[in-house]
Amino acid sequence: MYERFAHEYAAHAETSAHNALYDRPAVLGLAGDVAGKAVFDAACGPGLYARELLDRGAHVSGCDASPTFVEMARARTGGRADIRLHDLSTPLTWVPSDSVDLVVLALAIHYIDDRVALLREFRRILTPDGTLVLSTEHPTTAWLRLGGSYFTSEPVEESLSPKSDWPIRAWRRPLTAICDEFREAGLLIETLLEPRPAPEMADHYPDDHAKLEEFPAFIAFRLVPRHT
Ligand SMILES: C[S@@+](CC[C@H](N)C(=O)[O-])C[C@H]1O[C@@H](n2cnc3c(N)ncnc32)[C@H](O)[C@@H]1O
Repeated sequence: MYERFAHEYAAHAETSAHNALYDRPAVLGLAGDVAGKAVFDAACGPGLYARELLDRGAHVSGCDASPTFVEMARARTGGRADIRLHDLSTPLTWVPSDSVDLVVLALAIHYIDDRVALLREFRRILTPDGTLVLSTEHPTTAWLRLGGSYFTSEPVEESLSPKSDWPIRAWRRPLTAICDEFREAGLLIETLLEPRPAPEMADHYPDDHAKLEEFPAFIAFRLVPRHT
């Protein structure tokens, strides 16, 4: 999906308000101290998270479905991370069970049709006290943009950005459906975060800062395996 605009997206995500000063601070904050931890960066994109996680002392592996992003992520991490080409709609056969302390899945779960199967796969690879941190579009933001019933669960084809022709297909669904999928996969919500913009966004992107102080574009979760 991202192949057509991989280079443009990578340049955008490196410094954009929504990625650099909103999503990444939120997700990395939820991840906490990663030093010495085995971290799997699922749907790693151009490797912006992977490099940051390495710099924070994590042992990083990961995957993406885009060959261009896999190449970029490998270059960005300079051989320090095991990054593979993989479609997350299929099992992570090379990742042993109980082997990962933290899975990061930033801004990608909405591209997956069978999200419960993917979440179960993450639960399988996580250690019993492991953590999954993920972010996705906030359901109210999708509803305000797309209209119709807030409770609609369906894939939508649109451009990732209103300013660019970046065609994607992503699921809109209400908060109840998002949380039901976690429960079905055997995961508990430890923290639900409606991020606030990083303070420096006010200097660099004042319009985005004003909007994101009014309503959340994304929502993020810290999830842990259920042991009952
Ligand atoms: C918005 S980008 C986020 C990239 C990265 N997580 C970040 O936040 O910088 C979404 C990513 O999901 C990846 N993706 C979408 N569907 C996928 C799938 N089925 N399997 C693996 N990766 C997928 C895309 O290639 C893209 O890299």
